[in-house]
Amino acid sequence: MGIALGDVRIDPPVILAPMSGVTDRPFRQLVRRLGGGLVVSEMIASRELLHAARRAGTSKRAAEDCADEHPIAVQLAGHEPDTMAEAARLAVGRGAALIDVNFGCPAKKVVGKLCGAALMRDEALAARILRAVVAAVPVPVTLKMRTGWSVEARNAPRLARIAEDCGVRMITVHGRTRDQLYAGRADWAFIRTVKDAVTVPVIANGDIADCDDVDRCLAESGADGVMIGRGAQGRPWLIGQVAHYLRTGARRPDPAPAEQRDIVLAHYDALLARYGTARGVRVARKHLGWYGRGLPKAAAFRAAVNRSEDPAEVAGLVRAHFVSALNGVAA
Ligand SMILES: Cc1cc2nc3c(=O)[nH]c(=O)nc-3n(C[C@H](O)[C@H](O)[C@H](O)COP(=O)(O)O)c2cc1C
Repeated sequence: MGIALGDVRIDPPVILAPMSGVTDRPFRQLVRRLGGGLVVSEMIASRELLHAARRAGTSKRAAEDCADEHPIAVQLAGHEPDTMAEAARLAVGRGAALIDVNFGCPAKKVVGKLCGAALMRDEALAARILRAVVAAVPVPVTLKMRTGWSVEARNAPRLARIAEDCGVRMITVHGRTRDQLYAGRADWAFIRTVKDAVTVPVIANGDIADCDDVDRCLAESGADGVMIGRGAQGRPWLIGQVAHYLRTGARRPDPAPAEQRDIVLAHYDALLARYGTARGVRVARKHLGWYGRGLPKAAAFRAAVNRSEDPAEVAGLVRAHFVSALNGVAA
């Protein structure tokens, strides 16, 4: 059930969701090493990308060259068709294999600028943006959106048709409205109305945490594939597990305790290398908290990690904690 978009094959069709502040380069590389396929950059504001590119030497990290991450989708936010088109060209020049347009972000500071999910309320502007971006780049353009702005205005099927007419090649739907933010449950059945409205592949997103969820979500939505975000926090192997499941029908167990510890340590080292020691220690905290979730003494581990500014001490805490805690769970 693979998806072909130009030169890019998404096979099996499971995608790591874009998550600002989470799916940075170290995380994406880790997910890929553990068997995940397509990854998406964090959302990049089109204007900022262009400004940063003009200011030599101060380029925004999220927008750096990504050719070595092939195939990667670079996700752009914005509301000015020309600016987004130019940003898309720049991203392709830096190695983006796909351009994904964000019509889903619900954050006040984003929709306040008429970006993200706000564009679901302005279908004419949405169409101008999509047409401009599609015309600007030789690579496939995809779209990520919610089901609508509010329960009373779930226009995702109509917007999907507009997007298809504009040349968009794949549509991901997070099964919530903008007004829901992250409350309630994602409505996978509603995604079917989007799937029925278009001929391009539709990806279902929201609240998928394991292979059972994948089965249920695909059955309810009729979608061509799934995108997983929060389920992969602290479980970067999940995308690879789902890929394996979709490919073979067999479930791959979680990595053994010692392997999980090594994954955490490798992730930690990659964060320090990426951000430098002082910032890296802080960026790592949320990831270490997620890795420790559900294990014995999770709160104490988290508190100790959050207190320490010393990278060697944090690595020592990880080494001391993970295998014994995981064995404790297995016992
Ligand atoms: C911390 C965080 C950051 C996110 N950043 C983005 C983003 O940059 N672009 C985007 O399209 N969606 C973003 N999302 C939404 C996710 O891509 C996804 O649609 C949503 O979390 C639902 O899927 P999930 O239940 O699998 O997490 C973000 C979500 C979270 C939790």
